[in-house]
Amino acid sequence: MYVCVCNAVTDRDIGSAVAEGCCSLRELRDQLGVGNRCGRCTGCARDVLHQSLHARAPHSLTVVGLTPAAA
Ligand code: FES
Repeated sequence: MYVCVCNAVTDRDIGSAVAEGCCSLRELRDQLGVGNRCGRCTGCARDVLHQSLHARAPHSLTVVGLTPAAA
């Protein structure tokens, strides 16, 4: 699904960025442009980032700039 329409960034793009080491919304913005125009995608991008990070390291809840989802 498209997360950032302005920059045509999908959840798969975010997953790939996480696989390459991206671990913060700032890094997503720098690498993919997420949120650098209208900014409406920021909340969704944060959620997708968190899900991707959690999928890669399910037992690690320390994520830069994010808080873990309610347990
Ligand atoms: S939808 Fe991402 S910057 Fe507009």
